[in-house]
Amino acid sequence: MSEKLKPSAEGRKKLHIQTWGCQMNVYDSQRMVGLLRPLGYEVADNPDEADLVILNTCHIREKAAEKVYSALGRLNKHKKARQQAGNDMCIAVAGCVAQAEGAEIMARAPQVDLVFGPQSYHKLPEMIAKAARQTGDILETEFDVVEKFDVLATPRNIDGYAAFVTIQEGCDKFCTFCVVPYTRGAEVSRPVDQISAEVRSLVMQGVREVTLLGQNVNAYQGAAPSGAPTESFGLGALIRHLAKIDGLERIRFTTSHPRDMDDDLIAAIGEEKKLMPYLHLPVQSGSDKILKAMNRGHRAEDYVRLVEKIRAVRPDLALSGDFIVGFPGEDEQAFEETMALIREVDYASAFSFKYSRRPGTPGASMTKQISETEKSDRLQALQTLLETQKQNFNASCVGKVLPILLESPGRVAGQVNGRSPYLQAVHLEAPENLIGEIVSVRIIEKKSNSLTGLLKSSPSP
Ligand code: SAH
Ligand code: SF4
Ligand code: F3S
Repeated sequence: MSEKLKPSAEGRKKLHIQTWGCQMNVYDSQRMVGLLRPLGYEVADNPDEADLVILNTCHIREKAAEKVYSALGRLNKHKKARQQAGNDMCIAVAGCVAQAEGAEIMARAPQVDLVFGPQSYHKLPEMIAKAARQTGDILETEFDVVEKFDVLATPRNIDGYAAFVTIQEGCDKFCTFCVVPYTRGAEVSRPVDQISAEVRSLVMQGVREVTLLGQNVNAYQGAAPSGAPTESFGLGALIRHLAKIDGLERIRFTTSHPRDMDDDLIAAIGEEKKLMPYLHLPVQSGSDKILKAMNRGHRAEDYVRLVEKIRAVRPDLALSGDFIVGFPGEDEQAFEETMALIREVDYASAFSFKYSRRPGTPGASMTKQISETEKSDRLQALQTLLETQKQNFNASCVGKVLPILLESPGRVAGQVNGRSPYLQAVHLEAPENLIGEIVSVRIIEKKSNSLTGLLKSSPSP
Protein backbone atom coordinates (compact mmCIF):
# COMPACT_ATOMS: atom_id res chain seq x y z
CA MET A 1 0.00 0.00 0.00
CA SER A 2 1.35 3.45 -0.83
CA GLU A 3 2.30 5.73 2.04
CA LYS A 4 -0.55 8.03 1.08
CA LEU A 5 -3.37 5.74 2.14
CA LYS A 6 -1.72 3.91 5.02
CA PRO A 7 -4.05 3.88 8.03
CA SER A 8 -3.30 6.51 10.66
CA ALA A 9 -1.71 5.59 13.99
CA GLU A 10 -5.00 4.57 15.63
CA GLY A 11 -5.65 2.10 12.81
CA ARG A 12 -8.61 4.12 11.56
CA LYS A 13 -8.39 6.42 8.58
CA LYS A 14 -9.75 9.95 8.64
CA LEU A 15 -11.82 11.51 5.88
CA HIS A 16 -12.45 15.23 5.56
CA ILE A 17 -15.07 16.29 3.03
CA GLN A 18 -15.98 19.81 1.89
CA THR A 19 -19.15 20.38 -0.08
CA TRP A 20 -20.21 23.26 -2.32
CA GLY A 21 -23.20 23.73 -4.60
CA CYS A 22 -26.70 22.32 -4.58
CA GLN A 23 -28.45 19.84 -2.29
CA MET A 24 -27.56 17.04 -4.70
CA ASN A 25 -23.94 17.58 -3.83
CA VAL A 26 -24.85 17.43 -0.13
CA TYR A 27 -26.57 14.11 -0.79
CA ASP A 28 -23.61 12.83 -2.83
CA SER A 29 -21.20 13.75 -0.02
CA GLN A 30 -23.31 11.82 2.49
CA ARG A 31 -23.27 8.82 0.16
CA MET A 32 -19.48 9.06 -0.27
CA VAL A 33 -19.04 8.99 3.51
CA GLY A 34 -21.29 5.90 3.54
CA LEU A 35 -19.26 4.19 0.80
CA LEU A 36 -15.99 4.80 2.63
CA ARG A 37 -17.12 3.80 6.13
CA PRO A 38 -16.72 0.05 5.45
CA LEU A 39 -13.13 0.80 4.36
CA GLY A 40 -12.38 2.13 7.81
CA TYR A 41 -12.80 5.86 7.18
CA GLU A 42 -14.35 8.09 9.79
CA VAL A 43 -15.20 11.76 9.30
CA ALA A 44 -12.74 14.40 10.55
CA ASP A 45 -13.71 18.04 10.96
CA ASN A 46 -10.22 19.36 10.20
CA PRO A 47 -8.28 18.73 7.03
CA ASP A 48 -4.93 18.64 8.85
CA GLU A 49 -5.78 15.32 10.50
CA ALA A 50 -7.20 13.71 7.36
CA ASP A 51 -5.71 10.81 5.38
CA LEU A 52 -8.20 11.54 2.62
CA VAL A 53 -9.69 14.92 1.70
CA ILE A 54 -12.54 15.15 -0.81
CA LEU A 55 -13.60 18.48 -2.29
CA ASN A 56 -17.11 18.03 -3.69
CA THR A 57 -17.32 20.95 -6.08
CA CYS A 58 -19.83 23.09 -7.98
CA HIS A 59 -19.36 24.63 -11.42
CA ILE A 60 -22.55 26.66 -11.69
CA ARG A 61 -20.95 30.14 -11.52
CA GLU A 62 -17.40 31.30 -12.06
CA LYS A 63 -16.86 32.16 -8.39
CA ALA A 64 -17.86 28.62 -7.38
CA ALA A 65 -15.11 27.12 -9.54
CA GLU A 66 -12.47 29.59 -8.31
CA LYS A 67 -13.14 28.53 -4.71
CA VAL A 68 -11.83 25.05 -5.56
CA TYR A 69 -8.41 26.33 -6.56
CA SER A 70 -8.07 28.46 -3.43
CA ALA A 71 -9.12 25.49 -1.28
CA LEU A 72 -6.51 23.35 -3.06
CA GLY A 73 -3.87 25.97 -2.28
CA ARG A 74 -4.72 25.79 1.44
CA LEU A 75 -4.81 21.99 1.40
CA ASN A 76 -1.36 21.79 -0.14
CA LYS A 77 0.03 23.36 3.04
CA HIS A 78 -1.70 20.75 5.22
CA LYS A 79 -0.47 18.00 2.93
CA LYS A 80 3.14 19.21 3.17
CA ALA A 81 2.91 19.53 6.96
CA ARG A 82 1.57 15.98 7.19
CA GLN A 83 4.30 14.68 4.89
CA GLN A 84 6.94 16.34 7.07
CA ALA A 85 5.44 14.59 10.09
CA GLY A 86 5.72 11.22 8.29
CA ASN A 87 2.06 10.94 7.25
CA ASP A 88 0.47 11.69 3.92
CA MET A 89 -2.79 12.99 2.54
CA CYS A 90 -4.72 11.85 -0.52
CA ILE A 91 -6.53 14.77 -2.15
CA ALA A 92 -9.57 14.06 -4.30
CA VAL A 93 -11.60 16.54 -6.32
CA ALA A 94 -15.18 15.38 -6.95
CA GLY A 95 -18.35 16.96 -8.30
CA CYS A 96 -19.13 19.26 -11.18
CA VAL A 97 -15.80 21.12 -11.46
CA ALA A 98 -14.08 17.73 -11.59
CA GLN A 99 -16.40 16.70 -14.41
CA ALA A 100 -15.92 19.91 -16.38
CA GLU A 101 -12.26 20.64 -15.77
CA GLY A 102 -10.75 17.32 -14.65
CA ALA A 103 -7.68 17.40 -16.88
CA GLU A 104 -7.05 21.08 -16.08
CA ILE A 105 -7.18 20.38 -12.34
CA MET A 106 -4.64 17.59 -12.75
CA ALA A 107 -2.35 19.94 -14.67
CA ARG A 108 -2.80 23.00 -12.45
CA ALA A 109 -2.79 21.27 -9.07
CA PRO A 110 -0.20 18.48 -8.85
CA GLN A 111 -1.08 17.88 -5.19
CA VAL A 112 -4.37 16.30 -6.38
CA ASP A 113 -4.36 12.47 -6.52
CA LEU A 114 -7.89 11.64 -7.63
CA VAL A 115 -10.41 13.45 -9.83
CA PHE A 116 -13.89 12.05 -10.40
CA GLY A 117 -17.21 13.41 -11.64
CA PRO A 118 -20.67 13.23 -9.99
CA GLN A 119 -21.60 10.09 -11.92
CA SER A 120 -18.51 8.10 -10.93
CA TYR A 121 -18.25 8.42 -7.16
CA HIS A 122 -19.81 5.01 -6.60
CA LYS A 123 -16.45 3.66 -7.82
CA LEU A 124 -14.67 5.41 -4.96
CA PRO A 125 -13.64 2.23 -3.06
CA GLU A 126 -12.17 0.86 -6.32
CA MET A 127 -10.42 4.16 -7.14
CA ILE A 128 -8.94 4.34 -3.67
CA ALA A 129 -7.65 0.77 -3.95
CA LYS A 130 -6.12 1.71 -7.31
CA ALA A 131 -4.55 4.86 -5.86
CA ALA A 132 -3.04 2.73 -3.11
CA ARG A 133 -1.51 0.34 -5.64
CA GLN A 134 -0.12 2.87 -8.04
CA THR A 135 1.56 6.22 -7.72
CA GLY A 136 0.01 7.91 -10.81
CA ASP A 137 -3.07 10.16 -10.63
CA ILE A 138 -6.56 8.92 -11.42
CA LEU A 139 -9.14 10.72 -13.55
CA GLU A 140 -12.65 9.22 -13.69
CA THR A 141 -15.36 11.20 -15.46
CA GLU A 142 -17.58 8.56 -17.10
CA PHE A 143 -21.39 8.87 -16.96
CA ASP A 144 -22.41 5.55 -15.35
CA VAL A 145 -25.63 6.80 -13.79
CA VAL A 146 -27.53 3.52 -13.88
CA GLU A 147 -24.62 1.65 -12.32
CA LYS A 148 -24.31 4.44 -9.74
CA PHE A 149 -28.00 4.12 -8.84
CA ASP A 150 -27.52 0.36 -8.36
CA VAL A 151 -24.69 0.98 -5.92
CA LEU A 152 -26.80 3.59 -4.12
CA ALA A 153 -29.49 0.97 -3.56
CA THR A 154 -27.49 -0.14 -0.53
CA PRO A 155 -28.76 1.21 2.81
CA ARG A 156 -27.28 4.38 4.29
CA ASN A 157 -26.87 5.74 7.77
CA ILE A 158 -28.22 9.16 8.57
CA ASP A 159 -28.10 11.60 11.45
CA GLY A 160 -31.08 13.87 11.99
CA TYR A 161 -34.77 13.87 11.18
CA ALA A 162 -34.87 15.46 7.73
CA ALA A 163 -33.02 13.87 4.82
CA PHE A 164 -32.35 14.41 1.14
CA VAL A 165 -33.02 11.62 -1.34
CA THR A 166 -31.87 12.01 -4.94
CA ILE A 167 -34.55 10.58 -7.24
CA GLN A 168 -33.44 11.99 -10.59
CA GLU A 169 -30.12 13.13 -12.02
CA GLY A 170 -29.07 15.23 -14.95
CA CYS A 171 -30.83 17.60 -17.27
CA ASP A 172 -31.94 17.61 -20.93
CA LYS A 173 -33.13 21.23 -20.96
CA PHE A 174 -29.95 23.02 -22.04
CA CYS A 175 -30.79 26.51 -20.79
CA THR A 176 -28.22 28.64 -22.57
CA PHE A 177 -26.61 29.92 -19.34
CA CYS A 178 -26.24 26.60 -17.55
CA VAL A 179 -23.47 23.97 -17.19
CA VAL A 180 -25.58 21.28 -15.51
CA PRO A 181 -26.43 19.28 -18.68
CA TYR A 182 -22.67 19.02 -19.31
CA THR A 183 -21.57 18.22 -15.76
CA ARG A 184 -24.41 15.87 -14.75
CA GLY A 185 -25.34 14.43 -18.14
CA ALA A 186 -28.76 13.39 -19.43
CA GLU A 187 -31.89 13.02 -17.29
CA VAL A 188 -32.12 9.62 -15.58
CA SER A 189 -34.67 8.63 -12.92
CA ARG A 190 -34.27 6.05 -10.16
CA PRO A 191 -36.86 3.25 -10.04
CA VAL A 192 -39.75 3.79 -7.60
CA ASP A 193 -38.95 0.63 -5.60
CA GLN A 194 -35.37 1.76 -5.02
CA ILE A 195 -36.46 5.18 -3.78
CA SER A 196 -39.17 3.67 -1.63
CA ALA A 197 -36.66 1.25 -0.03
CA GLU A 198 -34.29 4.12 0.72
CA VAL A 199 -37.06 6.23 2.27
CA ARG A 200 -38.30 3.28 4.37
CA SER A 201 -34.82 2.66 5.66
CA LEU A 202 -34.45 6.36 6.55
CA VAL A 203 -37.79 6.31 8.37
CA MET A 204 -36.64 3.26 10.36
CA GLN A 205 -33.69 5.39 11.46
CA GLY A 206 -36.01 8.14 12.72
CA VAL A 207 -36.31 10.41 9.67
CA ARG A 208 -39.67 12.24 9.55
CA GLU A 209 -39.15 14.43 6.47
CA VAL A 210 -37.61 13.70 3.06
CA THR A 211 -36.75 16.15 0.31
CA LEU A 212 -36.75 14.46 -3.09
CA LEU A 213 -33.97 15.89 -5.20
CA GLY A 214 -33.30 16.29 -8.90
CA GLN A 215 -31.88 18.98 -11.16
CA ASN A 216 -35.30 18.70 -12.82
CA VAL A 217 -37.14 16.81 -10.16
CA ASN A 218 -40.55 17.18 -11.75
CA ALA A 219 -39.29 15.62 -14.99
CA TYR A 220 -39.08 12.43 -12.90
CA GLN A 221 -40.24 9.31 -14.80
CA GLY A 222 -39.12 6.25 -12.88
CA ALA A 223 -39.83 2.54 -13.40
CA ALA A 224 -43.12 1.75 -11.62
CA PRO A 225 -43.25 -0.85 -8.83
CA SER A 226 -44.14 -4.36 -9.96
CA GLY A 227 -47.89 -4.84 -10.18
CA ALA A 228 -48.59 -1.15 -10.87
CA PRO A 229 -51.01 -0.43 -13.73
CA THR A 230 -48.47 1.75 -15.57
CA GLU A 231 -44.86 1.18 -16.60
CA SER A 232 -43.53 4.38 -15.10
CA PHE A 233 -44.44 6.87 -12.38
CA GLY A 234 -44.24 10.64 -12.67
CA LEU A 235 -43.47 12.76 -9.61
CA GLY A 236 -47.12 13.05 -8.54
CA ALA A 237 -47.51 9.25 -8.50
CA LEU A 238 -44.19 8.81 -6.69
CA ILE A 239 -45.25 11.27 -3.98
CA ARG A 240 -48.60 9.52 -3.46
CA HIS A 241 -46.75 6.20 -3.24
CA LEU A 242 -44.21 7.45 -0.69
CA ALA A 243 -46.90 9.20 1.35
CA LYS A 244 -48.25 5.75 2.27
CA ILE A 245 -45.10 5.02 4.29
CA ASP A 246 -46.03 5.02 7.99
CA GLY A 247 -43.81 7.28 10.06
CA LEU A 248 -42.89 9.49 7.13
CA GLU A 249 -44.60 12.79 7.96
CA ARG A 250 -43.34 15.33 5.47
CA ILE A 251 -42.38 15.27 1.80
CA ARG A 252 -40.73 18.06 -0.18
CA PHE A 253 -39.17 18.14 -3.64
CA THR A 254 -36.76 20.42 -5.46
CA THR A 255 -35.93 21.81 -8.06
CA SER A 256 -38.88 21.98 -10.43
CA HIS A 257 -38.99 23.36 -13.96
CA PRO A 258 -42.17 25.24 -15.01
CA ARG A 259 -42.37 23.17 -18.20
CA ASP A 260 -42.62 19.88 -16.29
CA MET A 261 -45.35 20.92 -13.83
CA ASP A 262 -48.03 18.47 -15.02
CA ASP A 263 -51.66 18.24 -13.89
CA ASP A 264 -51.11 15.08 -11.88
CA LEU A 265 -48.38 16.75 -9.82
CA ILE A 266 -50.56 19.83 -9.32
CA ALA A 267 -53.39 17.57 -8.15
CA ALA A 268 -50.99 15.86 -5.71
CA ILE A 269 -49.96 19.28 -4.36
CA GLY A 270 -53.64 19.97 -3.66
CA GLU A 271 -54.50 16.59 -2.16
CA GLU A 272 -51.48 15.09 -0.45
CA LYS A 273 -51.38 16.23 3.16
CA LYS A 274 -47.81 15.04 3.75
CA LEU A 275 -46.55 17.23 0.90
CA MET A 276 -45.40 20.54 2.40
CA PRO A 277 -46.87 23.79 1.03
CA TYR A 278 -43.54 25.11 -0.24
CA LEU A 279 -42.59 25.09 -3.90
CA HIS A 280 -39.29 26.13 -5.45
CA LEU A 281 -40.18 27.02 -9.04
CA PRO A 282 -37.48 29.10 -10.73
CA VAL A 283 -38.45 31.44 -13.56
CA GLN A 284 -35.06 33.22 -14.03
CA SER A 285 -36.55 36.21 -15.88
CA GLY A 286 -39.88 37.95 -16.44
CA SER A 287 -39.06 39.00 -20.01
CA ASP A 288 -40.23 36.85 -22.93
CA LYS A 289 -37.29 38.01 -25.01
CA ILE A 290 -34.81 36.84 -22.35
CA LEU A 291 -36.70 33.64 -21.55
CA LYS A 292 -36.44 32.79 -25.24
CA ALA A 293 -32.74 33.58 -25.39
CA MET A 294 -32.29 31.44 -22.26
CA ASN A 295 -34.13 28.55 -23.97
CA ARG A 296 -36.48 28.18 -21.00
CA GLY A 297 -39.31 27.03 -23.30
CA HIS A 298 -42.14 29.12 -21.82
CA ARG A 299 -43.30 32.75 -21.61
CA ALA A 300 -43.61 34.90 -18.50
CA GLU A 301 -47.39 34.76 -18.77
CA ASP A 302 -47.33 30.93 -18.79
CA TYR A 303 -45.44 31.00 -15.50
CA VAL A 304 -47.85 33.46 -13.86
CA ARG A 305 -50.85 31.35 -14.94
CA LEU A 306 -49.13 28.19 -13.70
CA VAL A 307 -48.57 29.74 -10.27
CA GLU A 308 -52.26 30.76 -10.17
CA LYS A 309 -53.29 27.21 -11.01
CA ILE A 310 -51.12 25.75 -8.23
CA ARG A 311 -52.28 28.34 -5.71
CA ALA A 312 -55.89 27.52 -6.60
CA VAL A 313 -55.37 23.99 -5.25
CA ARG A 314 -53.03 24.99 -2.37
CA PRO A 315 -53.82 28.56 -1.31
CA ASP A 316 -51.27 28.60 1.53
CA LEU A 317 -48.38 27.74 -0.83
CA ALA A 318 -45.09 29.50 -0.09
CA LEU A 319 -43.46 30.11 -3.44
CA SER A 320 -39.73 30.36 -3.97
CA GLY A 321 -37.76 31.08 -7.14
CA ASP A 322 -34.39 31.68 -8.79
CA PHE A 323 -33.52 34.77 -10.83
CA ILE A 324 -30.63 35.69 -13.06
CA VAL A 325 -29.97 39.36 -13.76
CA GLY A 326 -27.81 40.65 -16.60
CA PHE A 327 -28.25 37.81 -19.07
CA PRO A 328 -26.96 38.96 -22.51
CA GLY A 329 -29.47 41.31 -24.16
CA GLU A 330 -31.27 42.19 -20.89
CA ASP A 331 -32.11 45.89 -21.38
CA GLU A 332 -33.90 48.17 -18.88
CA GLN A 333 -37.29 47.11 -20.18
CA ALA A 334 -36.51 43.39 -19.85
CA PHE A 335 -35.28 43.94 -16.30
CA GLU A 336 -38.41 45.93 -15.44
CA GLU A 337 -40.51 43.02 -16.73
CA THR A 338 -38.73 40.75 -14.24
CA MET A 339 -39.47 43.22 -11.43
CA ALA A 340 -43.13 43.35 -12.55
CA LEU A 341 -43.36 39.55 -12.53
CA ILE A 342 -41.95 39.42 -9.00
CA ARG A 343 -44.52 42.02 -7.84
CA GLU A 344 -47.32 40.06 -9.43
CA VAL A 345 -46.28 36.60 -8.17
CA ASP A 346 -45.14 37.61 -4.66
CA TYR A 347 -42.44 35.25 -3.37
CA ALA A 348 -41.96 33.87 0.15
CA SER A 349 -38.25 33.40 -0.55
CA ALA A 350 -35.88 33.47 -3.52
CA PHE A 351 -32.31 33.11 -4.76
CA SER A 352 -30.91 35.59 -7.24
CA PHE A 353 -27.62 35.79 -9.10
CA LYS A 354 -25.68 37.94 -11.51
CA TYR A 355 -25.31 36.16 -14.84
CA SER A 356 -21.97 34.37 -14.94
CA ARG A 357 -20.48 33.50 -18.36
CA ARG A 358 -19.77 29.77 -18.37
CA PRO A 359 -17.30 28.48 -20.95
CA GLY A 360 -18.89 26.14 -23.48
CA THR A 361 -22.48 27.32 -22.92
CA PRO A 362 -24.27 29.22 -25.72
CA GLY A 363 -24.79 32.29 -23.48
CA ALA A 364 -21.04 32.82 -23.13
CA SER A 365 -20.63 33.69 -26.79
CA MET A 366 -23.77 35.81 -27.16
CA THR A 367 -23.35 39.45 -28.07
CA LYS A 368 -24.80 42.23 -25.86
CA GLN A 369 -23.15 41.03 -22.65
CA ILE A 370 -24.09 43.28 -19.71
CA SER A 371 -21.49 45.20 -17.68
CA GLU A 372 -20.70 44.12 -14.12
CA THR A 373 -21.86 47.46 -12.68
CA GLU A 374 -25.18 47.17 -14.47
CA LYS A 375 -25.58 43.61 -13.15
CA SER A 376 -24.75 44.73 -9.59
CA ASP A 377 -27.27 47.60 -9.70
CA ARG A 378 -30.01 45.34 -11.02
CA LEU A 379 -29.24 42.60 -8.51
CA GLN A 380 -29.48 45.07 -5.66
CA ALA A 381 -32.85 46.41 -6.82
CA LEU A 382 -34.19 42.91 -7.35
CA GLN A 383 -32.94 41.61 -4.01
CA THR A 384 -34.45 44.58 -2.15
CA LEU A 385 -37.84 43.76 -3.62
CA LEU A 386 -37.53 40.02 -2.91
CA GLU A 387 -36.36 40.69 0.65
CA THR A 388 -39.41 42.89 1.32
CA GLN A 389 -41.68 40.11 0.07
CA LYS A 390 -39.89 37.55 2.24
CA GLN A 391 -40.21 39.72 5.34
CA ASN A 392 -43.91 40.30 4.58
CA PHE A 393 -44.46 36.58 4.24
CA ASN A 394 -42.69 35.87 7.52
CA ALA A 395 -44.65 38.65 9.25
CA SER A 396 -47.89 37.08 7.99
CA CYS A 397 -47.02 33.94 10.00
CA VAL A 398 -46.88 35.78 13.33
CA GLY A 399 -49.91 34.83 15.45
CA LYS A 400 -50.46 31.55 13.58
CA VAL A 401 -50.12 28.09 15.09
CA LEU A 402 -47.89 25.96 12.85
CA PRO A 403 -46.70 22.35 13.02
CA ILE A 404 -42.94 22.51 13.55
CA LEU A 405 -40.50 19.64 13.07
CA LEU A 406 -37.98 20.01 15.89
CA GLU A 407 -34.57 19.18 14.44
CA SER A 408 -31.70 20.16 16.75
CA PRO A 409 -30.73 21.84 20.03
CA GLY A 410 -30.52 25.64 19.76
CA ARG A 411 -27.51 27.83 20.48
CA VAL A 412 -29.00 28.95 23.78
CA ALA A 413 -29.63 26.31 26.48
CA GLY A 414 -33.29 25.28 26.61
CA GLN A 415 -33.87 26.36 23.03
CA VAL A 416 -34.48 24.08 20.06
CA ASN A 417 -34.46 24.69 16.31
CA GLY A 418 -37.16 23.54 13.98
CA ARG A 419 -38.68 24.04 10.54
CA SER A 420 -42.13 25.22 9.58
CA PRO A 421 -44.06 23.67 6.68
CA TYR A 422 -42.87 26.71 4.66
CA LEU A 423 -39.21 25.83 5.35
CA GLN A 424 -38.72 28.77 7.73
CA ALA A 425 -36.30 28.31 10.62
CA VAL A 426 -38.19 28.49 13.93
CA HIS A 427 -36.57 28.85 17.38
CA LEU A 428 -38.45 28.07 20.57
CA GLU A 429 -38.03 26.95 24.15
CA ALA A 430 -38.77 23.24 24.38
CA PRO A 431 -37.39 20.15 26.12
CA GLU A 432 -34.67 18.46 24.09
CA ASN A 433 -36.46 15.11 24.29
CA LEU A 434 -39.00 16.52 21.82
CA ILE A 435 -36.34 16.77 19.11
CA GLY A 436 -37.47 14.62 16.19
CA GLU A 437 -41.17 15.35 16.88
CA ILE A 438 -43.63 17.58 15.06
CA VAL A 439 -45.22 19.91 17.61
CA SER A 440 -47.77 22.75 17.50
CA VAL A 441 -46.09 26.10 17.90
CA ARG A 442 -47.57 29.59 18.10
CA ILE A 443 -45.39 31.99 16.13
CA ILE A 444 -44.85 35.07 18.26
CA GLU A 445 -42.11 37.04 16.55
CA LYS A 446 -40.38 37.55 13.22
CA LYS A 447 -36.60 38.02 13.15
CA SER A 448 -34.74 38.89 9.95
CA ASN A 449 -34.00 35.26 9.02
CA SER A 450 -36.12 33.19 11.36
CA LEU A 451 -39.26 33.05 13.48
CA THR A 452 -39.63 32.71 17.23
CA GLY A 453 -42.37 30.48 18.62
CA LEU A 454 -44.05 29.24 21.80
CA LEU A 455 -44.63 25.53 22.29
CA LYS A 456 -48.38 24.99 22.31
CA SER A 457 -48.68 21.26 22.54
CA SER A 458 -46.53 18.17 22.60
CA PRO A 459 -47.18 15.57 19.91
CA SER A 460 -49.98 13.12 20.46
CA PRO A 461 -48.50 9.79 21.65
N1 SAH B 1 -32.65 23.13 -12.59
C1 SAH B 1 -32.92 24.34 -11.97
C2 SAH B 1 -31.70 25.16 -11.63
C3 SAH B 1 -30.40 24.54 -11.33
S1 SAH B 1 -29.05 25.64 -11.17
C4 SAH B 1 -33.82 25.16 -12.90
O1 SAH B 1 -34.00 24.86 -14.03
O2 SAH B 1 -34.31 26.17 -12.48
C5 SAH B 1 -29.54 26.70 -9.83
C6 SAH B 1 -29.67 28.13 -10.20
O3 SAH B 1 -28.41 28.70 -10.48
C7 SAH B 1 -30.50 28.40 -11.45
O4 SAH B 1 -31.85 28.39 -11.19
C8 SAH B 1 -30.01 29.76 -11.87
O5 SAH B 1 -30.77 30.78 -11.31
C9 SAH B 1 -28.58 29.81 -11.34
N2 SAH B 1 -27.61 29.73 -12.43
C10 SAH B 1 -27.36 28.71 -13.26
N3 SAH B 1 -26.42 29.03 -14.17
C11 SAH B 1 -26.06 30.31 -13.91
C12 SAH B 1 -25.15 31.24 -14.51
N4 SAH B 1 -24.42 30.90 -15.58
N5 SAH B 1 -25.05 32.47 -13.97
C13 SAH B 1 -25.78 32.83 -12.89
N6 SAH B 1 -26.65 32.00 -12.30
C14 SAH B 1 -26.81 30.76 -12.80
FE1 SF4 C 1 -29.69 24.19 -15.86
FE2 SF4 C 1 -31.86 24.77 -17.21
FE3 SF4 C 1 -31.28 22.26 -16.64
FE4 SF4 C 1 -32.04 23.91 -14.70
S1 SF4 C 1 -33.28 23.26 -16.47
S2 SF4 C 1 -30.35 22.48 -14.64
S3 SF4 C 1 -31.14 25.81 -15.34
S4 SF4 C 1 -30.14 23.59 -18.00
FE1 F3S D 1 -23.35 23.07 -8.83
FE2 F3S D 1 -23.30 20.76 -10.06
FE3 F3S D 1 -25.22 21.32 -8.32
S1 F3S D 1 -22.78 22.70 -10.93
S2 F3S D 1 -25.45 23.51 -8.54
S3 F3S D 1 -23.09 21.11 -7.87
S4 F3S D 1 -25.42 20.17 -10.21
